[in-house]
Parts: sequence; structure tokens; C-alpha cells
Amino acid sequence: MIRIIKTADYDEMSRVAARIIAAQVTLKPQSILGLATGSTPIGTYEELVEKYRDGRLDFSGVSTVNLDEYKGLGGDHDQSYRYFMNTHLFDHVNIDKARTHVPNGAAADSAAECRAYDELVAGLGGADLQLLGMGHNGHIGFNEPGSTFVKGTHVVDLTESTINANARLFASRDEVPRQALTMGIGTIMSAKSILVVVNGEGKAQAVKDSFCGPITPEVQASILQLHANVTVVADAAALSLVEMGANELIIA
Ligand code: F6R
Repeated sequence: MIRIIKTADYDEMSRVAARIIAAQVTLKPQSILGLATGSTPIGTYEELVEKYRDGRLDFSGVSTVNLDEYKGLGGDHDQSYRYFMNTHLFDHVNIDKARTHVPNGAAADSAAECRAYDELVAGLGGADLQLLGMGHNGHIGFNEPGSTFVKGTHVVDLTESTINANARLFASRDEVPRQALTMGIGTIMSAKSILVVVNGEGKAQAVKDSFCGPITPEVQASILQLHANVTVVADAAALSLVEMGANELIIA
């Protein structure tokens, strides 16, 4: 079942998403959170840091598993996803860093790293809540449009559109890694609940295709229609192509 919550703008999206994550952690202090990087969740992480600083949130029992990492980048590279998570969340809250997990992009044997990552996620019992952003082409993690849904964590070739979208964060397009390690669709779907954050008109078509169209590997996020517990928090611009009579829509 998919529950779509419409917010006025990015800031409200961030506040609503942070409240959902905070509720998860409050109700289950030992929660396993699946986390995402990218521009979209930055405001959500800021809200979570604020709640921690105000004494309203305690991360001491939380473990995390991130979706993906660029292949070839070590955690100290300022564009690595490990670095992103440290600077946007982990360095600012009372989480035990030893319980935060991001695939190791610098691993010499990527295939072994992917297998180990799936074992780690399975060993933790899967994420209680998996936060996801969405690509303009409907990708989740780095699962790009294709002919199949890949189950486990794997190495992917990034598409030209993803390389172009991410080039803004690197000194030049040439520096964007061409490959990444990403949780597979099976790993993502093993989460007990999924929270998607998405904003902006540029994602409107992907939102419509993912939640109102056929389930197809050409739109990887469309698989979420088969998950029992998905909440999408999206701003009005991202929902501009979805017919919503109210600010909340349930797609059963
Ligand atoms: C990031 C990730 C990606 C992003 C997606 C959207 O860990 O897995 O799927 O969520 O590319 O990125 P932004 O938020 O930068 O538009």
C-alpha cells in the first residue's frame, strides 16, 4: 500500500519526513534505519539534527545501512556517500559510528563487498524504515532503468543521465565515478517500511510513472507498489502530474 502525503514545499516535506523517522526511533530506540544521500534528504537530516539538539531524539541505539556508494571512492573523499552521511547527520548526533554502514566503494573486491553487505543487512534483520530519494528516471538507490529488477547488492554502471545529474557536485564531469555499489531491489524491498522523499517539478513524471503506472524495471521505483508499507512525502511540484483530491492519497 502506498500513502502519498502532499506538502506545500521542500521545507514542509523535510519536516514531515523527519517526524516520521523520529517516530520510528522513538517507538523503537534500537531501530535499523536505511538511509539515502543526494540533495533531497538534506533538509530531513537537518530537521533530525535539530530534534537531537533539542533533546527530542536519541540515536544511541540506532543502527544504519546506506543504500549505495560510488565505486572507487574511499570514505574520506568529499564526494563519497560515507563522507556525506558523516557531515550531514552522523557527526551531529549521538549515533555510534561503528553501527553506521555504507558499502565500501574502495574495496578491492567489489563483488565480495556486495555479498558481505547483503549478509550484513540480512543479519540486522533488514531495515525497519528505509528512506529513499528518487532519480529523474525513477531510479532508487542506483538501480537504473533496465530489463530486470536486480535482487541483491551489486555493482552498476551509472547511466549518462545520472552522471550528468551528479556532475554538479564534482569539480568536473570527468571526475564523476562511472560505477557504484548499490543495494538491489530485493534488499530495498526487505525493509519493513519505506519512506520516499521527492520534490520539484523535474521529478513529476518519475513520480507519476512510479506510483500510477505499470510495474516495470524501466521505472525501478514502480516496484514499490508491491510493498506493504510505503509512505511518499512529496511537494506539490513533484505531485503536479498526480491527481490528488486531498493532501493525502492512499493507493491500495
Ligand atoms: C542516493 C540514492 C539516489 C538518490 C537519487 C535522487 O543514496 O540512492 O537514488 O536518492 O538520485 O537524488 P537527489 O536527491 O540528489 O535528486
